[in-house]
Amino acid sequence: MNISIFGLGYVGAVSLACLARDGHQVVGVDIDQTKLDLIASGKPPIVEEGIQETMATAVNSGRVTVTTNCTEAISATQMSFVCVGTPSRKNGDQDLGAIERLSAEIGEGLKQKSGFHTVVIRSTVRPGTVMKTIEPLIEKHSGKRSGEEFGLCFQPEFLREGSSIRDYDNPPMTIVGCNNETSARLLEDLFGQLPCKFISTDIGTAECLKYACNAFHALKITFANEIGRVTQSLDVDSRKVMELVCEDRQLNISTAYLRPGFAFGGSCLPKDLRALLHVARENDVELPMLAGMLPSNETHIRHTLDMVLAQNTRSVGMIGLSFKSGTDDLRESPLLTMAESLIGKGMQLRIYDPEVNLARLMGANKRYLEESIPHIAELMCASSAEVMAHGDVIIVGLGGQEILDEVKNRARENQYVIDLVGMKDVEQLPCGYSGVCW
Ligand SMILES: NC(=O)c1ccc[n+]([C@@H]2O[C@H](COP(=O)([O-])OP(=O)(O)OC[C@H]3O[C@@H](n4cnc5c(N)ncnc54)[C@H](O)[C@@H]3O)[C@@H](O)[C@H]2O)c1
Repeated sequence: MNISIFGLGYVGAVSLACLARDGHQVVGVDIDQTKLDLIASGKPPIVEEGIQETMATAVNSGRVTVTTNCTEAISATQMSFVCVGTPSRKNGDQDLGAIERLSAEIGEGLKQKSGFHTVVIRSTVRPGTVMKTIEPLIEKHSGKRSGEEFGLCFQPEFLREGSSIRDYDNPPMTIVGCNNETSARLLEDLFGQLPCKFISTDIGTAECLKYACNAFHALKITFANEIGRVTQSLDVDSRKVMELVCEDRQLNISTAYLRPGFAFGGSCLPKDLRALLHVARENDVELPMLAGMLPSNETHIRHTLDMVLAQNTRSVGMIGLSFKSGTDDLRESPLLTMAESLIGKGMQLRIYDPEVNLARLMGANKRYLEESIPHIAELMCASSAEVMAHGDVIIVGLGGQEILDEVKNRARENQYVIDLVGMKDVEQLPCGYSGVCW
């Protein structure tokens, strides 16, 4: 393919060298003439393992040219990768100046080109930037329609400095968000042979994914370091602890607990988190991230409560009360907290939970429930049908096919379902619907 690359820093220089190595004709574009001169002489503008040889081989093959002229680069190629920097502003926002100026220039270049061209954004941009900032700028300056006369894509870059050529050849996955099929197919031709999944999605998902991945990586590092500090204060080797944490591939290093849903609760997580924070405090160890988890969980419950209150009705039905499906354990159940808050707000609440049978509840569990909601017996229903008949708003806090079918079959047009569990086929519901955080 004939490909132009705009911005020859870490991402752009590695892509240029690897694409030319793989047999493509590549035009490199940068506003920095020094970088262009270096590349033209076969030298990389960055320090990276393996880049010296790869760049020299690529340039010697005659498949690399460089220019500062955007229009020239666009007309000589069928696809452009945008790899310019998107640094932080002082207030934490992203400085999109370089990408905005370049979008206008690409638009001018496209105006003078006949035939379809694909623009692929590889820079990390704030979610929404491609469709709200880049697309209008290119359309305005080219006079052409996005998705029809030119294609626009976002393909997040996953390489890490220090191992970027290896990462280029072995990415964890290739994700492309595209606004048209032709561009998606071109990118699959280009990257489909890599030893990973090629996934085509929408642009917004691809933009958010990049931030979710980087936030997750930062979270993992911070978690290991916080566990490290508290463990060190106890004279225990954190490396042994974390090695064993990583041994668990069922709950720890796995997809478990990684789906958006309702708040956590139960008899273990909140209690043990509080105890760990207490131990850390006793030893003068600060754990800001771990200390933020319970407040974050409470925010999630408040957010759900606000969703219910926004419906402006007093009759609410709740399916589920225990802290998760398949148990009657009510200790620190976030659904119980929701129920208490809804009663406190004067709601007429009805609850159904197949596992919570008042006659069968015993000991601490029974006491806990009666202390939390004194007149609980009057609120409990014998079936989900009763709850469905009562509520204008229905909170679905329990999974299980039977219950979900019941909700789908009994929902009325004027009801509103708030889904905490990720119901399937919600388009079949005749009423309003919102997921708790989707
Ligand atoms: N560095 C990484 O490891 C990495 C990994 C994944 C994603 N990213 C993202 O990729 C983007 C680029 O990162 P980087 O580290 O390669 O940046 P960088 O700062 O090293 O390089 C950016 C280049 O863009 C050039 N440039 C600026 N305006 C231009 C214009 N109008 N036309 C042509 N070139 C122009 C600059 O001169 C510079 O050479 C960023 O959004 C970054 O967040 C970086």
